[in-house]
Amino acid sequence: MKTELYIDGAFVPAAAGGHFPAINPATETAFAEVAAGQAEDIDRAVRAARRAFDSGVWSGLGGSGRAAVLRKIAQGIKVRVDDIAALETRDNGKPLPEAVWDIEDAAFCFDYYADLAEAAEARGDTRLDVGDERFESRIRREPAGVVGAITPWNFPMLMAVWKVAPALAAGCTIVLKPSELCSMSCVELARIIDAAGVPPGVFNLVTGFGPDAGAPLSEHPLVDKLAFTGSVPTGRKVMQAASGGIRTVSLELGGKSPFIIFNDCDLEKAVEWILFGIFWNKGEVCSATSRILVQRALYPRLLERLKQAAEAITIGPGDQDGVKLGPVVARSQYDKIMGFLERARTSGAKLITGGRRPDGFAKGYYIQPTVFADVPLDAEIWREEIFGPVVCVNPFDTEAEAISLANDSPYGLAGAVMSDDLERCDRVAAKLRAGIIWVNCSQPTFTQAPWGGFKSSGIGRELGQAGYDAYLETKQITRFDHGCDWGWYLGGDDPQ
Ligand code: NAI
Ligand code: MG
Repeated sequence: MKTELYIDGAFVPAAAGGHFPAINPATETAFAEVAAGQAEDIDRAVRAARRAFDSGVWSGLGGSGRAAVLRKIAQGIKVRVDDIAALETRDNGKPLPEAVWDIEDAAFCFDYYADLAEAAEARGDTRLDVGDERFESRIRREPAGVVGAITPWNFPMLMAVWKVAPALAAGCTIVLKPSELCSMSCVELARIIDAAGVPPGVFNLVTGFGPDAGAPLSEHPLVDKLAFTGSVPTGRKVMQAASGGIRTVSLELGGKSPFIIFNDCDLEKAVEWILFGIFWNKGEVCSATSRILVQRALYPRLLERLKQAAEAITIGPGDQDGVKLGPVVARSQYDKIMGFLERARTSGAKLITGGRRPDGFAKGYYIQPTVFADVPLDAEIWREEIFGPVVCVNPFDTEAEAISLANDSPYGLAGAVMSDDLERCDRVAAKLRAGIIWVNCSQPTFTQAPWGGFKSSGIGRELGQAGYDAYLETKQITRFDHGCDWGWYLGGDDPQ
């Protein structure tokens, strides 16, 4: 099977005609050929998006008109949850039930932003008191324009939808460049958007490699706003490219999120959320709680129980019943994680369990659920994002020490705290320097709640109302209804 690009309302081959393989990480085999878009395709797509935006064909529908189309897209996803989830598992390796959550969330995201588009239309402009009654001033929010979206492979369809749904709801037009490691579900998204009757040019999909397609999109002068999710080095490049045209940019860049566990916690509850916080989606989660801080008295028992539970996790292909940990996404990530594990051997950290390829797999990018303890604070595995099924655990004594260790990171995407003392949880939550804080849990994500990071974890917020506002420009309209009585030049006094 060969995929195509979707530009200006039509499925078309890449101008240069090339393809690259979609690879199933459980078998290491190609199952499709993805169109390799390049600068020329990006240019056509951006020009189509520009024309569509400037024509007003989409923004002119108004919030309720666009909401009706968005709900059709949501419906188009809902009726295909099972087959798109299976495709996502084949391309990414994640367990099928997790892929089902993703695709259901993607459908909900379109319904949610349909509601927000309608609400914005109903609210209309905001009147403003400028302190001088001769003036009538109001704030009008307008779509930001042409959006360039560059997305990752860990939640291939969902991360795209976090951008596409609010951008379309707000009245923007968009060019989406998904990750070359997992493009297939975004091709299906393009089919659904096409079938829902979105006008030509409003949504465009260009699959391809980062340097070939992502870079020209981030540099294109006709793009008004860039939305990126991925690594810090690539995010920096996107931000630099945006500076050329003084374009708005939102970045979601991952982290090394801490999870603080106090002595008064229920052990089983703590272990369950630690496991979910790092092994869900194979640890390929920007908000994964990969640094666990455990209060001293609980530390030995917790490590013992965590080891047992990690060793009991069923590893296998994502489409097999009962599997909780699939293969990591690609050879490149497998090698990268194995490199971290190799270097960790001499870091001084204690390997509690895992650390290598599991037995019994001839093929597939499988890595054991891995736990390190007593990790030196300057060790690479404690400081850098591994983006795989690897967790580090360290002890602490006091609340203040836990907070200071937790905040000692260049990242600030998420953080979690667990204690039966809710006042303590509130104190800690207020002091963690991160955009997402979980209390007595780790990872539950809601479309309604703003998502994004402090520090090197990014700029801006996705999801919630903030994720909609991110696709708007703000305009003030100020009217003077008093004829000539300003009079600074044409006679008269000082207007004050
Ligand atoms: P990446 O940041 O290179 O890829 C993300 C997207 O950027 C992809 O669509 C890619 O094609 C595109 N891209 C690559 N180079 C580009 C360029 N020069 N200009 C514009 N776009 C470009 O991430 P990669 O290499 O796939 O993963 C490496 C690491 O990044 C992971 O190990 C993980 O630590 C982190 N990461 C974080 C994610 C998050 O959710 N915050 C998601 C994926 C990766
Ligand atoms: Mg793949």
